[in-house]
Amino acid sequence: MRTTIDAYKKRADRLDIEGIDFDDFKDRPLAADDLRTLRYMHDVEHHTVCYLRDLLLTPAHRDPEITSFLSCWVFEEMWHGEAIGAVLQAHGEQAGAPRIAALRQRHRHREALTTLSTIGSAAFAGRAFIAVHMTWGAINEWTTQAGYARLAERAGHPTLRELLGRIMKQEGSHIDFYASEAARRLSASPRAQKLTRFLLAHAWRPVGSGVMPKSEVAFLVDYLFDGPVGRAVAARIDRRVDRLPGQGQLHLLETAVTRALQHTTAA
Ligand SMILES: [Fe+2]
Ligand SMILES: [Fe+2]
Repeated sequence: MRTTIDAYKKRADRLDIEGIDFDDFKDRPLAADDLRTLRYMHDVEHHTVCYLRDLLLTPAHRDPEITSFLSCWVFEEMWHGEAIGAVLQAHGEQAGAPRIAALRQRHRHREALTTLSTIGSAAFAGRAFIAVHMTWGAINEWTTQAGYARLAERAGHPTLRELLGRIMKQEGSHIDFYASEAARRLSASPRAQKLTRFLLAHAWRPVGSGVMPKSEVAFLVDYLFDGPVGRAVAARIDRRVDRLPGQGQLHLLETAVTRALQHTTAA
């Protein structure tokens, strides 16, 4: 069944952090690798608004249902970044505006390239770009939700598990919208299927790759998606991609894990 934008608009809300005891992290701090993962997630959640800026330069801005979704989505993602920032701050780390401002300053040239490549892809794909965007969004949200679940498992910290569980519930709403729109738009257009497949095969990288250093992308993929459990989760996402019209056997996550291992081995 198609997820309607009306249902999502009613549900969209600021992340509920009522009852989350952030001071608990002062008594029971997270391990270094879990914090490193959270820094990545904090930065990427806060980067959503820059991703939105790029998308609004494409034909996506002409579709009012898509722009309504994006308006609510960017608001929810910003609060995910704020909540993760509160965890970092409980560990005495910088988070929020000062960290984000420094990141944007550092990556301004790389970001300009990302903007240009989004505009270039949209010009190349035309109307079919919306199907590409919805498919990309679905894969990124599947990966993000699975990444939070893996981090909760690996960290084994009850307060973090509760917080990430609440974030994952909202990521589930994002998945519903992106995945249903991707399936609908891909099934309506063989051209959209071909273009999406081409762009995924040649340009898809794990969420955050456009802005985070290669070493951090490799660490994150390795930490969350390698090992028997991580690989099973990655394979499940690949199977979900397989079920989208025309997107079978792309093995995006499997390739990302192989690439991450090559990078960490070479480093
Ligand atoms: Fe999020
Ligand atoms: Fe999301």
